[in-house]
Amino acid sequence: MSENYQGLGQYSMEKGAARKRRSKYIVIGIVVLLVILIAGGVTAGILISNNNKSSSGGKSSTDKSTDKNASKDPSVFKKDPSLHKSFYGMAYTPEGSLLPECGNSLENVIKDIQLLSQLTTRVRLYGADCNQTALVLEAIKQTKVEMEVFVGNYVVPTDNTPYIRQREAIKSAIEIYGTDHIAGVTVGNEFMLNYLTERKSNDAQSAIAREGAAILIANIEDTRNMLASLGLKKNIPVGNSDAGSFFNTEVLSAIDYGLSNVHAWFANTTAEGAADWVTTFFEETNVQPAALLPNNPKMYIAETGWPTKSSDLGNANNGAADASVAGLQIFMDTFVCQANKAGIPYFFFEFFDEEWKDHQFGGVEGWWGIFNAE
Ligand SMILES: *[C@@H]1O[C@H](CO)[C@@H](O)[C@H](O)[C@H]1NC(C)=O
Ligand SMILES: *[C@@H]1O[C@H](CO)[C@@H](O)[C@H](O)[C@H]1NC(C)=O
Ligand SMILES: *[C@@H]1O[C@H](CO)[C@@H](O)[C@H](O)[C@H]1NC(C)=O
Repeated sequence: MSENYQGLGQYSMEKGAARKRRSKYIVIGIVVLLVILIAGGVTAGILISNNNKSSSGGKSSTDKSTDKNASKDPSVFKKDPSLHKSFYGMAYTPEGSLLPECGNSLENVIKDIQLLSQLTTRVRLYGADCNQTALVLEAIKQTKVEMEVFVGNYVVPTDNTPYIRQREAIKSAIEIYGTDHIAGVTVGNEFMLNYLTERKSNDAQSAIAREGAAILIANIEDTRNMLASLGLKKNIPVGNSDAGSFFNTEVLSAIDYGLSNVHAWFANTTAEGAADWVTTFFEETNVQPAALLPNNPKMYIAETGWPTKSSDLGNANNGAADASVAGLQIFMDTFVCQANKAGIPYFFFEFFDEEWKDHQFGGVEGWWGIFNAE
């Protein structure tokens, strides 16, 4: 999926509009429900106070206020018994976090975090535009769930403005929310992949690659300085994320952790063979080289998953297997248990299907979610 990673984690306007329409109906629904509840509550209150005049009359009003609080308090939500905290981590971007549209909302992020918290205790973000860092931290605060976040800064090679804008957003979020739920700051997502692909190269150790690496390393150092300027008590690791075979050695030497995308689908494996392929690729291509460096950066699998379908026939099969729900199930059954047992840190890709990617890229791009768009 490397060729299309650029927009990863961003969302379509169409989807945002659909959400807005949905939200409108939800609001109308809630108003109607409230009217019914208030009417019902008043009636019940009259009945109860008439019936229980002499007994413990306080009880009914306590029950009523508990119900009222439960509907408003994001830390009180219904858990789905079929979900388990089986995943080390999950790749996540709040819907509507792409400039210039944005359109994300705290309400929706809270819903996502409520759901995510039933699957994992870690999420990673790709960028910091559209206030997503603060929204996610606010949602964690309000839901009171156990969750840590690898926040992200999506770096563009030709223009440093986005980097600075996102650095300031991350800084401000840390000033407001502190560092309790921050596991790291990831500077750059597939920066080297994009840098080299645009320059018709695929060698992450070439002279061209070192030019790109210098841009990225300057931003990594700048982020360290920003964190140092805050005088934090906790040491926040600074990392980088890229496609599995695009880690430049100088970049690796400058980071505390590396997040590596490892996708068996694009290596034309079967669904049955995918878990072993991912584990072996990650160990040989990322873990072993990183372990040779003096700074010994910790390596994570940044993305791994399996597509459930393709929007065109040509991409529905990778030569060895189909894009299918059955394939995703096989990959989850094998990879998740294997990786958890072996202590491999990974972020599953991904939380839900992304319609905008399907519109923009077609093929399997929009169909990697363990949940559909709804
Ligand atoms: C419900 O919320 C109100 C206002 O925040 C608070 O005063 C009250 O104690 C809460 N009741 C319960 C049962 O939690
Ligand atoms: C960002 O999100 C936080 C948390 O919801 C909110 O308090 C803040 O006002 C938002 N900032 C902007 C600029 O939207
Ligand atoms: C995978 O198979 C497709 C044909 O289904 C082919 O176009 C592609 O080059 C193959 N990729 C790899 C990495 O072997």
